[in-house]
Amino acid sequence: MSKIKVLPDSLANKIAAGEVVERPASIVKELIENSLDAGARNISVDIESGGQQLIRVSDDGEGMTRDDAILAFERHATSKIKSAEDLDAITTLGFRGEALASIASVAKVRLRTQNENDVVGTEIEISGGRMLKVRDIPFAKGCEFEIRDLFFNVPARRKFLKSEGTENFHIANLVTHYALANPQVSFRLSSNGRESILATPTADLRERAYQLFGSDFIGDLIEVNGGSGELRVQGFVSSPSVTRTTRDSQYFFINGRYVRDKILSKGLSEAYRAMIPSGVHPSAMLFVEIPPHDVDVNVHPAKTEVRFVRATVVLDLVRESIRSAISFAKAAATPFGEKSTETVTGQIADFHKPYYEEKPHVISKEDLEGGFKLQNPVPPAQPPQQQKINLSFKGQSETRDHKAMHLPLSFPMLQRLRKLNRRMDAASDVSAESILKAVHRGSGRLKICP
Ligand SMILES: Nc1ncnc2c1ncn2[C@@H]1O[C@H](COP(=O)(O)OP(=O)(O)OP(=O)(O)O)[C@@H](O)[C@H]1O
Ligand SMILES: [Mg+2]
Repeated sequence: MSKIKVLPDSLANKIAAGEVVERPASIVKELIENSLDAGARNISVDIESGGQQLIRVSDDGEGMTRDDAILAFERHATSKIKSAEDLDAITTLGFRGEALASIASVAKVRLRTQNENDVVGTEIEISGGRMLKVRDIPFAKGCEFEIRDLFFNVPARRKFLKSEGTENFHIANLVTHYALANPQVSFRLSSNGRESILATPTADLRERAYQLFGSDFIGDLIEVNGGSGELRVQGFVSSPSVTRTTRDSQYFFINGRYVRDKILSKGLSEAYRAMIPSGVHPSAMLFVEIPPHDVDVNVHPAKTEVRFVRATVVLDLVRESIRSAISFAKAAATPFGEKSTETVTGQIADFHKPYYEEKPHVISKEDLEGGFKLQNPVPPAQPPQQQKINLSFKGQSETRDHKAMHLPLSFPMLQRLRKLNRRMDAASDVSAESILKAVHRGSGRLKICP
């Protein structure tokens, strides 16, 4: 049975109209999005002459039946939406039913595909929108699209193509984006027979970023993990000390969709305000998860722009999540973080000047009852600065004087504390677990007064 339907005009007219094939990279984008929507685990892209001569995208997704393969090239033919209501909550990368029709109208296309339930595959050839051939072929499950001679029938648009190097750059950038957004999927890109990207499946974004960019880039990144429930932002940003003169290494995704979005970009810039000079930019890979009905992707035909129903909520989430991640990373350079086994002198409170101006949430001794178990409780009369707390990390023990410990409260901090918990051993006066419990009761910033 056909899964693809041609949308009625009344629905097709509600979809952002316009040309999506600007350059070879736009074709690669549409084909990769289709492969991901089809559940592919392996996506392979081969290009020749910057994509102008050849773009081949192969996947092992669900593939298409013969009928679907023919219908797929019709305008407004899609399996992804059926009614106007579906447009309000889009969960797939594609939904317009336009991409293949647009591509086939400006190039020579060969599709080879087989649906997982079929015993025979289908080959289709189309040139400049005209169907030339449909035949049965033996094939494996999945799809292989070959796009040749881009703009062969519209020479005016061929003139706007840039050099092979530039078009290659845009394609590699695009594949990199989708590889970041889908660590569990394997991606391969080869240009003129030379493999330039090979990303085997990884467990998470950090590993995938390491695979793609190497240790130099990933080394200084700060993990961002903010929000809760259905509205979250996750990813990595660069330390304020590592900046770039362009925004090229800023990657934004909304529900797995690569976007260029002013709200996310603004949230990122605002988070770094006063921390970096003007004219330079941080690096970022930010993934926003938001309920589909809170974001409209039917804004622009290329689907790289979105409109948020509650833009300020998203802006605040992004800015504050990044700020607290940076703030926590600074704190992590103190004895309470990753480098805490280093010898540190001075008072803990001095190491991290409060980043927020908010009033700290002061956790008193009473607050800590049940939460904090100080093995050597301080006599009430003793001034706080005399307090000695023993922190012990896997065999290394340190005793420090301090008045108080300032910690920024944030989700990343909780995660770090969980890690810390595994590293701290029982000899510590304060267990990370007890701090966690206290943190849960706080808000804004936490000041621990033993
Ligand atoms: N790689 C693929 N594997 C399986 N089915 C595919 C693949 N590519 C396309 N299709 C099918 O062909 C249909 C048409 O694809 P097309 O890209 O033109 O439209 P779309 O993805 O539905 O929407 P959009 O125009 O927003 O991309 C899809 O809805 C899907 O059913
Ligand atoms: Mg599509």
